[in-house]
Amino acid sequence: MVTYQATHVSPDMSFLEMLDEVNEGLIRKGEEPIAFDHDCREGICGSCSMVINGIAHGGFNATTACQLHLRKFNDGDEIYIEPWRVGAFPVLRDLVVDRSAFDRIIQAGGFISVNTGGAVDGNHVLVPKVDQEVAMDAAACIGCGACVAACPNASAMLFVAAKVSQYALLPQGQPEREKRVLAMRDAMDKEGFGHCTNEYECEAACPKEIKVSNIARLNREYLRATLVTE
Ligand code: SF4
Ligand code: FES
Repeated sequence: MVTYQATHVSPDMSFLEMLDEVNEGLIRKGEEPIAFDHDCREGICGSCSMVINGIAHGGFNATTACQLHLRKFNDGDEIYIEPWRVGAFPVLRDLVVDRSAFDRIIQAGGFISVNTGGAVDGNHVLVPKVDQEVAMDAAACIGCGACVAACPNASAMLFVAAKVSQYALLPQGQPEREKRVLAMRDAMDKEGFGHCTNEYECEAACPKEIKVSNIARLNREYLRATLVTE
C-alpha cells in the first residue's frame, strides 16, 4: 500500500476525478501516476473495477466506483483502494486487472443464429412481460467482476448466470440454448473461478443489482442441457 494525499478535491467530484487530481499532482512532481481502468464514467462499461475500503466498488447501493462521489466521505478520511484480488483476474499494475477471462467466457457462449429482422418483425414475436423484464434485468450486467471480487470462492457464477439468463428466457435465445450454457460453464471452470456456495456476497456487491435467482436459473439450464443433449 502507498499513501497519497488527495488535496484540491471537492465533495462534488467523482471518485475517479479524485484519482485524476492525485495523478495530475504526481505527474507534476515527475512521479508515476496511479494506474486505474475507466471508460464510460457513467456506470455502463464495467471497467472502473476497484475495492474501496475493503468492499468492491465501495459498497454503496447500485453504485459503480465511477458513480461514487466524494460527498460520501468526510474531509480527512483515509480511504483504502485496492485492485480486485482474484486469481483469474491477474493484477497488471496498481488497480488494473486483466478481466479477459470474462471475454473468453462470452466468446465461448457464441452468437445468436436467428435472423431477428427489423423492429416491425420484433413486434410479431410475442414475449411474456415477466420474461422480458427478467431477461432485461439480467442483461444489465456490465461485466465489472465485482461479484467475483466479493465472493470468498472467487466464483463467477453471478456473471455467467446473468449472461445465460438474458438469452435463455427469450425466443431468440432458443436455438443455441443448450450449447451456450454448457460452453459458458465449461469456459468458466477452465478460467479457474471458484464454485458457488451460496454466500450471496455477489448480489450484495453487484452495482447492477443482478439477483442470485439467476444462479438458480443457470443451474437449472445446465442440468436441462445435460439431459437434452445426452
Ligand atoms: S453480475 Fe454484477 S457484479 Fe457481476 S459482473 Fe455483472 S454487473 Fe458486475
Ligand atoms: S468507468 Fe464505466 S462503469 Fe465505471
